[in-house]
Amino acid sequence: MISSAPPPPQPERPAGIVVSGLRKTFGSGSAAVTALRDVQMRVEPGEVVGLVGPSGSGKSTLLKCLGAVLTPSGGHMELGGQLVFDGDHWLHPDLTRLRREQIGFIFQSPYLLPFLSVRDNVALLAMLLGRSNQEARAAADQLLADLDVAHRADAMPNRLSGGEQQRVAIARALINRPPILLADEPTAPLDSPRAMAVMDLLERLAGQMGTSVIVVTHDEKILPRLQRIYVVRDGVVGEGQRERVRDAPVRFRSRRLRNT
Ligand SMILES: Nc1ncnc2c1ncn2[C@@H]1O[C@H](COP(=O)(O)OP(=O)(O)OP(=O)(O)O)[C@@H](O)[C@H]1O
Ligand SMILES: [Mg+2]
Repeated sequence: MISSAPPPPQPERPAGIVVSGLRKTFGSGSAAVTALRDVQMRVEPGEVVGLVGPSGSGKSTLLKCLGAVLTPSGGHMELGGQLVFDGDHWLHPDLTRLRREQIGFIFQSPYLLPFLSVRDNVALLAMLLGRSNQEARAAADQLLADLDVAHRADAMPNRLSGGEQQRVAIARALINRPPILLADEPTAPLDSPRAMAVMDLLERLAGQMGTSVIVVTHDEKILPRLQRIYVVRDGVVGEGQRERVRDAPVRFRSRRLRNT
């Protein structure tokens, strides 16, 4: 018989990413550029959330603050239930370790190491976390296969097309199955089937590992794949609606053309 008693209270699971009052200013005095103003955000474990907005609005700056690549000017950030930035300083004693263990980062450019093969570019971060070379390379090969670039595993990065390099950079960000994944326009150089394959992988990681994923994008194709959207304008972040984002594709398109 099924009991009608209410289920026992579950301990609350900490959110993957919590941001409050986050600010970032570059430079000082008359040259100061305020890139982020009083940002509030919350991304649960397993959520795949989009970040959209015009060029220069602060998307990459926000991602880099979350990824401990840039130091915010103020505010608070929690990753995986741990306060990592508190007002004006990092609480984590070793930011390299924080990045390596907790955060997968797909930058707007691939930044592959030119002196390592494609396979070792992907495997390196797993080796640095203590996995054997053989194990790390096998995991790298699997991800490269998932991203349809396994046939380039032995090549050096400068022999790859832009889209292939981007897929390798995505594999590198996923190799340690990080609890936080920050992706800056991951599908920009990819055709539609490959963009969808990337989204499949991100969704799988989120669904299976409870990873919190933030995807910066101007790519209309992937908007339906995002569970929620934040919109950034002049450093201010608000909750967005997919339909409104779709209503304004021209600005996003013209920006992308200017950039390429
Ligand atoms: N290192 C820096 N020094 C000074 N200003 C910067 C720096 N990085 C970014 N900015 C400025 O901060 C603002 C936000 O830049 P950011 O790169 O975050 O924009 P974005 O939304 O990612 O744009 P895009 O869509 O073109 O990538 C811009 O005005 C930019 O010029
Ligand atoms: Mg950017």
